[in-house]
Amino acid sequence: MSFKKFIPKPIRRIALRMLNHIQLLNYYFKDMNRYSKHSFDFSNSKAKRHHETDLIYYYHKIEKGLSLPNPRIGFGQKVVNHLLSILNHYIKQYGWDNVSIAALNTLYSYYYFNEKNDLRLNELLNKLEELSKTIDAISRPTVGGIDEVKKVDIDKSNIDFKEFAFSRYSIRNYAPGNVSIDLIKEAVYIAQKTPSVCNRQPWRVYVYSNEEDKINILKYQNGNVGFGDGASKILIVTSELKDFRGPRERNQSYIDGGMYSMSLIYALHSLGVGSCALNLAVSPQTETELKNTANISESEVLIMMIAVGNLPKKLNVASSPRRAVEDVIAIN
Ligand SMILES: Cc1cc2nc3c(=O)[nH]c(=O)nc-3n(C[C@H](O)[C@H](O)[C@H](O)COP(=O)(O)O)c2cc1C
Repeated sequence: MSFKKFIPKPIRRIALRMLNHIQLLNYYFKDMNRYSKHSFDFSNSKAKRHHETDLIYYYHKIEKGLSLPNPRIGFGQKVVNHLLSILNHYIKQYGWDNVSIAALNTLYSYYYFNEKNDLRLNELLNKLEELSKTIDAISRPTVGGIDEVKKVDIDKSNIDFKEFAFSRYSIRNYAPGNVSIDLIKEAVYIAQKTPSVCNRQPWRVYVYSNEEDKINILKYQNGNVGFGDGASKILIVTSELKDFRGPRERNQSYIDGGMYSMSLIYALHSLGVGSCALNLAVSPQTETELKNTANISESEVLIMMIAVGNLPKKLNVASSPRRAVEDVIAIN
């Protein structure tokens, strides 16, 4: 006989609500501990990723400033000096890579912008030249700073986005056969264009193709019954907490990771590959178990899984009707 039967329903409801609150508090507490352990400002020891993200954070302030309609001559010199100082430390510790070169090129762009406007920052130029001596000039990429783009070139991309968006569905029926890793790489390449806060690009995509791995991973996900095992690949999108700083950015990893996931889903769609987002709304315990199984580090937050497979010639999809525009728009 169930003990529950003897407790009146209203009391049971109150007890359940209290339990949910306690659990919620516990989850928030764990999230907070993880954020403070790994994010930039709180973490006690800094990994290379922290230093990378710091460079991006500061050089982005400069590239953004340079892209404004009328940048102020000599703007942001405090930021420039700080960027120069952290770039020096970075080079000593890790050497030149895409991030440090982009930082250097941004500083050069800043110098040339000012020079063009008759402000010669000779001390800055000397420091940049000194730093540049240590790079292999031939392999130095030119990324960083500002790019000039023309409206005609932006307008050239005239896809019918409405038609494209309306032809995407969550695909839960897959035709046999593998989706090649090259297609996944191409989709990831396209999705890399996703905007992110200060261009920090915190996302990572884990790809699982092996039958055993897919089964082991899917068992931690509650919404794939009846179709997950037919997917050619299971992707897991994560977001790196080391890329975030301060209390205000506590939720930013989910925003950037969510935007990236949408891009990835659209990119797969553009390549003719079917996909279905799979929620990773899991308890901290399940999260830890999944991360251990899937080899994902503690410093990453789980955004979602994506089941990927070939499109059958004909299939049923859930209608998933949308709310009316009037229901979601607030015109003020
Ligand atoms: C973050 C997220 C998690 C989702 N999780 C699941 C899931 O676990 N299982 C599933 O079958 N569909 C899942 N979906 C798919 C949604 O049900 C689907 O996107 C929605 O019904 C709209 O339909 P459409 O994608 O066909 O336009 C998820 C979608 C998102 C964005």
